[in-house]
Amino acid sequence: MISPATRSRVLHRSSRSRPPLAVGGQGAWLVEQGGREVLDASGGAAVSCLGHQHPRIVEAIKRQADQLCYAHTGFFSNEPAEALAEELVGHEPGGLSLAYFVSGGSEAVEAALKLARQYFLEIGQPRRSHFIARRQSYHGNTLGALAAGGNAARRAPYNPLLTDAFSHVSPAFSYREQQADEDEATFTARLAAELEAEFQRLGPDTVAAFVAETVVGATAGCVPAPAGYFKAIREVCDRHGALLILDEVMSGMGRTGTRHAWEQEGIAPDLQAIAKGLGGGYQAIGAVLVSQRVADAVEGGSGAFQHGHTYLCHPIAAAAALEVQRVIREDDLLDKVVAMGTLLEERLTERFGNHAHVGDIRGRGLFRAIELVQDRSTRAPFDPSLRLHQRIKQEAFTRGLACYPGGGTADGQRGDHVLLAPPYIISPSEIDMIVDRLGEAVDAAIGSLSR
Ligand SMILES: Cc1ncc(COP(=O)(O)O)c(C=O)c1O
Repeated sequence: MISPATRSRVLHRSSRSRPPLAVGGQGAWLVEQGGREVLDASGGAAVSCLGHQHPRIVEAIKRQADQLCYAHTGFFSNEPAEALAEELVGHEPGGLSLAYFVSGGSEAVEAALKLARQYFLEIGQPRRSHFIARRQSYHGNTLGALAAGGNAARRAPYNPLLTDAFSHVSPAFSYREQQADEDEATFTARLAAELEAEFQRLGPDTVAAFVAETVVGATAGCVPAPAGYFKAIREVCDRHGALLILDEVMSGMGRTGTRHAWEQEGIAPDLQAIAKGLGGGYQAIGAVLVSQRVADAVEGGSGAFQHGHTYLCHPIAAAAALEVQRVIREDDLLDKVVAMGTLLEERLTERFGNHAHVGDIRGRGLFRAIELVQDRSTRAPFDPSLRLHQRIKQEAFTRGLACYPGGGTADGQRGDHVLLAPPYIISPSEIDMIVDRLGEAVDAAIGSLSR
């Protein structure tokens, strides 16, 4: 046992406090050193889609470790990576036909951006080097992905290092962006017109791709787009010959009730980043799913994606992800995501629907959030210096609940939300427990503001 007094040599997220040690887990629960059990209501950052210590995944990792741990992709392919690619794109969903395996979400986004750029070099359109993304988005913390992201606070310290190849348009965030005199259709039309105007400003033949999270995750709190939005922006991209890159690192792999969140939008991307729920936290893995159109251009052009990492197609990571995806399919867990997601929405509405400081309850499947406001009628956020989301996180954790609160919800600086992303195997009684504990935590955190 490590005593709390022992100095930690880990550079933790906060240098002011040291997190407790997690020493075990089972299903939706994590166990802390000393035995306290914490209900994991967000799988970290929407990662642990099968909960903790799922026996089939643990066994698959052991089997693969016994057989082959690593073989560099400069020399070899490996069986689990081949099988995982077959599982993901063997049926060519939405025309996606190849998978490029990396070690996480940021790497997946970086690879997608570079592949989009290379695509246009391959087809003889070298002027295409601009990317349009959205404010209030998050695409990862590596410099390319951070430049794509539109979260003001996360970008601020690194702004001098971020490329101006990216520009940002308004998010499809109805609660914050839709005007009082707009309905869903006119709001969507305005967003599409704004994207069109940005293409025109940059020069349509200089834009490589539009980048968006299908359902926005950490920076705004589970924000699905209004109906028809993705069809409209797909049309803008197609009109100008640009690619559509969807970032489903958080919202994909079943989290919203379909394997890909774009299936609910009636469109498909040219490139798609996935991670988190791909390996469910059992291994570090992400991927870019690549459309036939892009794959053909590389194959018929230079013949090689000019990119790479040491751990591409890692056999143990691929074996774990393959088993995660098989469990989701064989245990019909997408049906469970829809049913438990509906129950979670109902419970959240019962508990917070009339709460003086909850302005919005939103999301899809088991990807839900509440947004906190100082005043429901004006939607005014709390003063960010109060750090309400941090207080909620602390109050929840004290009550044995791990959830994922975030700040900057309204405009990148102001606003607070709490994101919930429980595992697909969550039970109805655990849903009740999540909402009860969250309710107490929200009230305690708001109560602490006046003290
Ligand atoms: C939408 C989205 N894209 C990219 C990333 C980056 O993924 P990672 O932290 O695995 O690098 C995240 C992480 O939260 C994310 O939510």
